[in-house]
Amino acid sequence: MGLAIRVMELSDIPGVVELQAIVWQDHFLKERNMQVPIMKRTRRNMEYYLAKDPGGCFVAMDGNRMVGTIVSHTWGSVGWFGPLEVNPVIQGTGIGKALVTESIKYLRSRGCTTVGCETMASSARNIAFYNKLGFKAMSLSHVLYKRLGDVAPEEVESKRARRFQPGDNLDEYKALWNNILPGLDYSVEIASTIERELGHIWVMDEGHAHAIVHTYEMFEESQNAIMKLLVAEKGHEAVASELLDRCEIVASMEGKTGMFIRTYDVNPPVLKWFFERGYELQGTSIRLILDGPDETDAAFHVSCWSG
Ligand SMILES: CC(C)(COP(=O)(O)OP(=O)(O)OC[C@H]1O[C@@H](n2cnc3c(N)ncnc32)[C@H](O)[C@@H]1OP(=O)(O)O)[C@@H](O)C(=O)NCCC(=O)NCCS
Repeated sequence: MGLAIRVMELSDIPGVVELQAIVWQDHFLKERNMQVPIMKRTRRNMEYYLAKDPGGCFVAMDGNRMVGTIVSHTWGSVGWFGPLEVNPVIQGTGIGKALVTESIKYLRSRGCTTVGCETMASSARNIAFYNKLGFKAMSLSHVLYKRLGDVAPEEVESKRARRFQPGDNLDEYKALWNNILPGLDYSVEIASTIERELGHIWVMDEGHAHAIVHTYEMFEESQNAIMKLLVAEKGHEAVASELLDRCEIVASMEGKTGMFIRTYDVNPPVLKWFFERGYELQGTSIRLILDGPDETDAAFHVSCWSG
């Protein structure tokens, strides 16, 4: 049978999550000799990705058999992809390359001028794969985790943080995103979080600080929340810290027992800031960019670009 790449449909989701789970179990066994539990993404996670970039999620089909999958993300001028998986039995036969090529085509058609992805820094195999496709290694990004404790009722009230209201003006946030990387635009994440009830958005006037925490179930039976975004003007670490407190508290109140954060070495805050807040390093990835500028250190910026 010949290989065909087509846009992912809602009806593909069960097959996609099955394939993803198999691929990652195989990956950890091969690369680290580790037997990890099956981790399945939820339908809700995949529906959110599909709704955000409906023309940018693809499946590779060998006849009726799904053999690969990729998800693309666009945030204005920034185009990213991941997760990306190919059936272990037929890895190394060009399917990964075909999926990435399709994603790049989509990202360019959406006007993205910075195209990239992240992969595990420990995976020489993946880095070689992306290098062959023209991607260049940039800096490291880190996955951090904190176990969340119970929240005492008196901690619930925040002094200065307030909930973002639909219709609130985004102009000041957009100016801040634009300083990080011209054209970077997270509006879609704000809209998705509200429309799909993925979590909470907290803002503070000082330093135009804003935060998105996702508390929906991203993986089946996972009790962890994810900091999707935390941005503030440079020099406003204290404000950002207060927003992170707020996000940890709402996550805890929803029964989440842990918080995941992904941070990038180029911009503040440095790792020490997280360690002092009780976060531990879970893993390190490397950012790879095909073309276009990388972000600058113009703002306090914590974001999860990797799916
Ligand atoms: C990474 C992955 C998507 C690559 O897909 P794939 O179908 O196996 O890769 P391809 O066959 O398309 O390889 C494309 C090119 O990269 C090269 N390549 C692949 N692995 C390589 C390696 N270990 N070293 C050097 N080159 C490599 C291939 O030779 C090929 O080059 P060519 O076009 O000159 O022949 C796949 O292996 C996978 O699903 N891995 C597990 C999950 C994962 O790591 N996903 C990515 C997370 S960021």
